[in-house]
Amino acid sequence: MDEKGVQFPSGPPRKFHAMLAFCMKARLGPLTKQFAGHFPLMLNILRVYYRYLARRRFIFGLVLLLIVVSAILHSLTPYFYKLFVDKLPDLNEQVLINILVVYVIVRLVATGLSALTFQLGDLLLIDAASDTRIDVFKKVHDLDFAFHASKSTGSLISAVKRGDGSYFNLFHAIHFRIFWVVIEFFVMFFFLSALDIRIGLSIGTSVFALLLTIKFIIGKNIRIRTLFNRAEDDVSDVIVDNFVNFETVKLFAKENWERARLQNVFGPWKKHLWDYGISFRYFDLSVGGIMTVGIFITLFLSLRLALNNEITIGDFVLVAGFTASFYPQIFDLVFALRDIAKNFVDMERYFGLLDENILVKDSENPLNFTQVKGEIIFDNVYFSYKGGQKNALKGVSLTIRQGQSIALVGRSGGGKTTMVKALMRFYDLDSGKIEIDDIDISKVTKQELRSHMGVVPQEPILFNNTIGYNIKYGSPEATNKELIAAAKMANIHDFIETMPKGYNTNVGERGIKLSGGQKQRVAIARMILADPDIIIFDEATSHLDSESEKLIQDAFWRASKNKTTIIIAHRLSTVMKADKIVVMSKGKIKEIGTHGELLDKEGSLYKYLWDLQTKAH
Ligand SMILES: Nc1ncnc2c1ncn2[C@@H]1O[C@H](COP(=O)(O)OP(=O)(O)OP(=O)(O)O)[C@@H](O)[C@H]1O
Ligand SMILES: [Mg+2]
Repeated sequence: MDEKGVQFPSGPPRKFHAMLAFCMKARLGPLTKQFAGHFPLMLNILRVYYRYLARRRFIFGLVLLLIVVSAILHSLTPYFYKLFVDKLPDLNEQVLINILVVYVIVRLVATGLSALTFQLGDLLLIDAASDTRIDVFKKVHDLDFAFHASKSTGSLISAVKRGDGSYFNLFHAIHFRIFWVVIEFFVMFFFLSALDIRIGLSIGTSVFALLLTIKFIIGKNIRIRTLFNRAEDDVSDVIVDNFVNFETVKLFAKENWERARLQNVFGPWKKHLWDYGISFRYFDLSVGGIMTVGIFITLFLSLRLALNNEITIGDFVLVAGFTASFYPQIFDLVFALRDIAKNFVDMERYFGLLDENILVKDSENPLNFTQVKGEIIFDNVYFSYKGGQKNALKGVSLTIRQGQSIALVGRSGGGKTTMVKALMRFYDLDSGKIEIDDIDISKVTKQELRSHMGVVPQEPILFNNTIGYNIKYGSPEATNKELIAAAKMANIHDFIETMPKGYNTNVGERGIKLSGGQKQRVAIARMILADPDIIIFDEATSHLDSESEKLIQDAFWRASKNKTTIIIAHRLSTVMKADKIVVMSKGKIKEIGTHGELLDKEGSLYKYLWDLQTKAH
């Protein structure tokens, strides 16, 4: 939990803040207009925020009730001062002691209730914050491939961290500071207006003037904070990008260049942070000035009333007590408002993730897709990447029979990986359809669809965990015997055995401690263990040595026996075993046939590529 966490305001009442906040809540024109531009954003954030708090509405209600009671009790201190001063001249010890005892009891109860409120607030927030974090995590998982392809992990992490931290601060600022101060203001307003309406009016007017001032300043503060957050995300981007790609940086000896890049993004970061600091000074000076004028007018008025015997000395102590304890808290109110503005901005992206649109939607009434034989049909498929490659697939029609193996070959950028992404429904098609066993893949859930496919990606990425964990990722219930059988089939068991910790060897972040060929064989073992109905293998483009290549190919063909298989191959030696070879070029299927047929075809792209590769060897 944030160390600021849920703090209870200690000390005397905060009436002036209360007025400010109340006026805000009552939507007094000027202040509301100040927030007007940000209103939809703020309302949306509050909507999501309170939806989580409302999941525990009983505790939330209790916290609000306790805040009201404790704030009223805390606010009564000046009233007891007045009683002391009024009763002191009578020299009646018993009366004075009675007042003192009541005062001490009130303070003790107020302190006890404050602590209880604080504790219940924590109870409420800890659960609500973890619920939110889990939902955001789930949402990020659910988001489309397109979102993940364009996201920046660094800025996403910093947005989530900021949002998460603001979760507690926002609660504290709204309920324990502003709400509290609103109540204290009413208590003060009640007592002072009852004493003399002019004193009440003088306090009301200065609070109103403060509201107007805040109206002018807080919007600027929000705008600067937004700019700063963007600059902060840029800094975070560069740092995370460097940590992830540290190998490339070292390979090219670009440390100095990367440091300069970081320094570069620190330029706007410093400027906006400096501006942000300056905007606080505006608060300090303007609020401090108006506050002093307010205190002067109120005390001047009360002194005159006391001199004219219109109020007692005790009454004057009451006014002085309230102003002394309440006015200084206006600063805290302003800080609370400023914190709220900052928290809103910080939470914008965090909660914004929950509202992020999922483009590739599951059907509302998904068809049952538990039994899959594995016949795949691409029917006149057109697809363009949004804001990217136009017609990455252009009228692709292809039938893959159950148990057949298909090789996709062709020039780089021809659309091979895109075919697989479309089959896994990472994207929706522009037109045409893809069917598996005569069922349109958009009519089943994405999770169900993908659970039938086993993919060995072009560049497998492993979890920072043991080899055993990574192989068992798709089927955690597998026994050790099955695990070893899969590893043997994937030609990786012998290697694992040579490691001191065997299957318990850690593979490092993204699998960095393994070679490219080893990673791919771990990915094949993982796929074998998951026992999918359809197998997809995106062959690595990096040049493996012939022995590793053979190990991988043998492993793959063994695993794909009797299963519908799509292999994307760059080395044509890999594809000779395939039942059918599909040659892709510029998003279209250019040629289809067996290895022999395509070689016999004069002028075929396949023959050209084959000649190129065989002659090179
Ligand atoms: N996420 C993306 N956004 C925009 N364009 C993309 C995206 N992914 C791929 N492309 C573009 O779509 C085209 C087809 O890419 P694809 O990855 O399918 O090629 P490929 O045939 O698998 O190539 P390779 O043999 O190099 O792996 C390319 O021009 C590529 O730049
Ligand atoms: Mg590819």
